[in-house]
Amino acid sequence: MPAAGGIGPGNGKEYPGNLTPFVTVSCIVAAMGGLIFGYDIGISGGVTTMTPFLQKFFRRVWEKKEAAKSTNQYCQYDSQTLTMFTSSLYLAALLASLAASTVTRKLGRRLSMLFGGLLFLAGALINGFAKAVWMLIFGRMLLGFGVGFANQSVPLYLSEMAPYKYRGALNIGFQLSITVGILVANVLNYFFAKIKGGWGWRLSLGGAMVPALIITIGSLLLPDTPNSMIERGQTEEARAKLKRIRGVDDVDEEFTDLVAASDASKLVEHPWRNLLQRKYRPHLTMAILIPCFQQLTGINVIMFYAPVLFSTIGFGDDASLMSAVITGIVNVAATLVSIYGVDKWGRRFLFLEGGVQMLICQAVVAACIGAKFGTSGNPSDLPKWYAIVVVLFICVHVAGFAWSWGPLGWLVPSEIFPLEIRSAAQSINVSVNMIFTFLVAQVFLIMLCHMKFGLFLFFALFVVIMSIFVYYFLPETKGIPIEEMNRVWKSHWYWSRFMEDLDYPINGDLELSKGGQGAKNV
Ligand code: BGC
Repeated sequence: MPAAGGIGPGNGKEYPGNLTPFVTVSCIVAAMGGLIFGYDIGISGGVTTMTPFLQKFFRRVWEKKEAAKSTNQYCQYDSQTLTMFTSSLYLAALLASLAASTVTRKLGRRLSMLFGGLLFLAGALINGFAKAVWMLIFGRMLLGFGVGFANQSVPLYLSEMAPYKYRGALNIGFQLSITVGILVANVLNYFFAKIKGGWGWRLSLGGAMVPALIITIGSLLLPDTPNSMIERGQTEEARAKLKRIRGVDDVDEEFTDLVAASDASKLVEHPWRNLLQRKYRPHLTMAILIPCFQQLTGINVIMFYAPVLFSTIGFGDDASLMSAVITGIVNVAATLVSIYGVDKWGRRFLFLEGGVQMLICQAVVAACIGAKFGTSGNPSDLPKWYAIVVVLFICVHVAGFAWSWGPLGWLVPSEIFPLEIRSAAQSINVSVNMIFTFLVAQVFLIMLCHMKFGLFLFFALFVVIMSIFVYYFLPETKGIPIEEMNRVWKSHWYWSRFMEDLDYPINGDLELSKGGQGAKNV
């Protein structure tokens, strides 16, 4: 049956090991790397609705917004410079994630996290003290470089550290801290916007220093992953580290597999060019399509522009910021659901359920906005029940994303790549995510102005496409050890054809496993 998601757990080896306090604490600290990304996502939408901020840096937008009060609501925020402020960060992150590939591979995952923290710190300072638009944009670019490094290294770090049975839950710690970062930013915007004297936006932007310090200090304290230590020749230290992480002495089987994966990866001189080989077709496809689809759910329309969106549909400035806080809380809570369920129910179930939920909500929100605003963008009166229905469905939509494409968009790519292409493929994942985040951020306000309520249907269409894709093409990866992942492709109805010509890098033989499970890493 085509939709079968590959093979089930228990179909291969089971490495001994526990969820030790050591691994738990390391993963919690590393997951903090998501805070810097989340803080950014949450902060810019709120800041761009603060009147003193607009008056100082984007006066024309502010004048237009004032003038538009009684005319077309869909177009009141349409400004390229303003969206450039939001989206410049994602272009910078894209470039940084490519550079981070080499740092992460050659110097270790931790060093990429450290770079990420430091760059982010510098960006936050420049933004907090900004006097001109160029300082804002330059600061956002530094923040973006920071995000690029962090997002490239943190998910890999988590997936490598975690015992395979808990990999999903520990990895989603990253997404959880993204959502906490967004929520904290929303709450701060709400309060800072009230500061008399109109300089609250400086606190909002400068506040990014706090998550930056957390990940900077955190990265100095964290241990490196055994996979990365072996990759860099520290083999014996890696064995000792693996024993400590897993809390058992019997790590031989996992250790042998890690060394074999590393040996195979050393034969690969050009990880980028390598990615184009036929046997990596499924990995490359996922590295491109998963982040692309994640962004085409339209989630960032809500995350970046929730206050703008809510004020567009007739909420006052204060109510708009408050509604953003509500969606932020839903986002965090629903992420906890996926931490609970991902290693029980599996990735595919969450992807598909989340897809259906988002689809229904997008259709309802489009219908609500269409009914009231029509195509002219001039609503008559907006009754209270109407606002409640819209916010409710937006919240259910956010929940659907937050237990499916949100966390899984980072988890699945980080667990499916074999070591020899892991760092490069993860960079592709991050860059594609950033390109599409950039595109959505940059064109959303224009699209809202032109497509009006149809914008929500546009994203709904993509949700249908991505759910079909998951149904047929994404194998289940729950409970499969990371260096064993090849099995899922080999037994997949479609991807197995790319595995037929599997060539084994070490003397044609990587059959190191006792039970003859087959190649572990190619
Ligand atoms: C996505 C972000 C999004 C966030 C929302 C992340 O997984 O990559 O683009 O804003 O989830 O929680």
